[in-house]
Amino acid sequence: MFTNFPLFPEQASVQASQVDGIYFFMLAVTAFFSLLIAGLVVFFAVRYRRRHEDEVGVPIHGSLALELLWTIIPFLITMVMFGWGAKVFFELYRAPAGAMEVYVVGKQWMWKVQHMDGQREINELHVPIGKPVKLIMGSEDVLHSYFIPAFRVKADVIPGRYNMLWFTASKPGRYQLFCAEYCGTQHSGMIGTIIAMEPAEFQSWVGGGKSSDTPAAAGAKLFESQGCAACHAEGAPIPAPMLTNVFGKPVTLQSGATVIADEAYLRESIVNPQAKIVAGFQPLMPTFQGLVTEEQILQLIAYIKSLSTPGGAPGGAQAPAK
Ligand code: CUA
Repeated sequence: MFTNFPLFPEQASVQASQVDGIYFFMLAVTAFFSLLIAGLVVFFAVRYRRRHEDEVGVPIHGSLALELLWTIIPFLITMVMFGWGAKVFFELYRAPAGAMEVYVVGKQWMWKVQHMDGQREINELHVPIGKPVKLIMGSEDVLHSYFIPAFRVKADVIPGRYNMLWFTASKPGRYQLFCAEYCGTQHSGMIGTIIAMEPAEFQSWVGGGKSSDTPAAAGAKLFESQGCAACHAEGAPIPAPMLTNVFGKPVTLQSGATVIADEAYLRESIVNPQAKIVAGFQPLMPTFQGLVTEEQILQLIAYIKSLSTPGGAPGGAQAPAK
């Protein structure tokens, strides 16, 4: 009956049943108390209605037991909602280590996707089932929002910073992708398709066809063509921090503070290099804002990431020339 008018999209990710669980629990609690209270209002109105013109109400002295009961029970129920909701939220928020990473850039009005092995897509996203997939998302222009109803995941795509979204698809199929943030006249057309595939099928999709440079390889070329290598290299005339084994490691700044060199820090250091100067270096780097697109910034970050080996010592040759 509801096949042509489904009230809920199908559950196609591991997250979907968790989100639906808390949603239906809250819906059931809300419905139960709404019916209970509305029913009692009607029942009391009838039961205790005024029967004679001269009838006077009986004074009420209250009941401590009753007050405690209807305070403690709702308190416990809302604490269950809070605890359960927080658990689901944190799981939705924290991608597991080792998730398959994919870069997504939103722009008016399309979704551009780069896979780590070079495949590119527009308004489509192919993913394997049964494997955590982490989207690292940026915007070329305005606020967008990446929403996959069948997976019950949604995250804003924000200009000037990165946002993450992760899911594990559980069922092969084609699912609707929406932009869920009004972003201009063609907002309603900023839609696409998520294609969840069996792992073997996904492998042959990834391997087949028009694979371009991997983001890391494209980033390496940019690193040369944009002149980054002129300073970020051993023995460069103008000393700049070496980028080997920097990703994911703490970096000490001129201010004495320490930051982790994650995607957000690297992006900021490319578009606004003066924001966080590495201890021992001069603020000499020019901004690359406008010289590289959001996609290219992601490629540069992929390249810098590729210079890091697990457990590698940060910057073997990083000693600043003084
Ligand atoms: Cu992009 Cu709405």
